[in-house]
Amino acid sequence: MGEKIRLDKMLSNMGKGTRSEVKDALRFGQVKVNGMTVRVGKEKIDADVDEVTYRGEKVIYQKFLYLMLNKPQGVISATEDNHHETVLDLIDASYKHYDLFPVGRLDIDTEGLLIITNDGELTHNLLSPKKHVPKTYIAKVKGAVGPTDIDAFARGITLDDGYVCKPAELVIDSVEEDFSNVTLTIHEGKFHQVKRMFEAQGGQVVFLKRTMMNALSLDPELELGSYRELTDDEFKRLVQNVEIS
Ligand code: URA
Repeated sequence: MGEKIRLDKMLSNMGKGTRSEVKDALRFGQVKVNGMTVRVGKEKIDADVDEVTYRGEKVIYQKFLYLMLNKPQGVISATEDNHHETVLDLIDASYKHYDLFPVGRLDIDTEGLLIITNDGELTHNLLSPKKHVPKTYIAKVKGAVGPTDIDAFARGITLDDGYVCKPAELVIDSVEEDFSNVTLTIHEGKFHQVKRMFEAQGGQVVFLKRTMMNALSLDPELELGSYRELTDDEFKRLVQNVEIS
């Protein structure tokens, strides 16, 4: 047996209409549960078992939504803002009834993988400092990055406020004349963490993109500003080693 939910709530949560539109549909006999017309919205159904039709069409109940967004620069990781476009402004209105929010934050000038969901418990677990969920970034850093930096990141960088970061894995991908291209995996999420870690080493991050969260990689085919629902396999990668009830 699954979770019981009010029929009218389930229908409006699934975007079938506003509360009053759903109420009208019920009143006009346009909603059936297991083939029987139901006119009372407060009646509870078991979304895993009961078959609901709305105006003749089967309604599949999906409680949580998980979107992978390739965040572009210039938008902020918030649900609303008076000055800037937010990541939620990039999401189609047809998803709005899910009450979505971003899982954590990327800076306004950071690109890449951002999960958008309405699953508060999973979000809490993914962001919990106790879980040490890895996050991988590619960065372009002004100044030379070398083996001593790899060692310093592995030991734990001390930030400007005295905080000692957990060991992080730094890989140098290529070195240009004035810049280094690196991949960095960290296991926590302090404010501006990656930028401040390189600043502590005398470098400056000029480009930052998140490519992985836990075992989930950003789909390289997903264009900046685009998003799509996670596949089942991707969801498993996202929650790997993160307890969910
Ligand atoms: N670290 C940063 O400095 N910025 C981000 O957006 C993410 C991690």
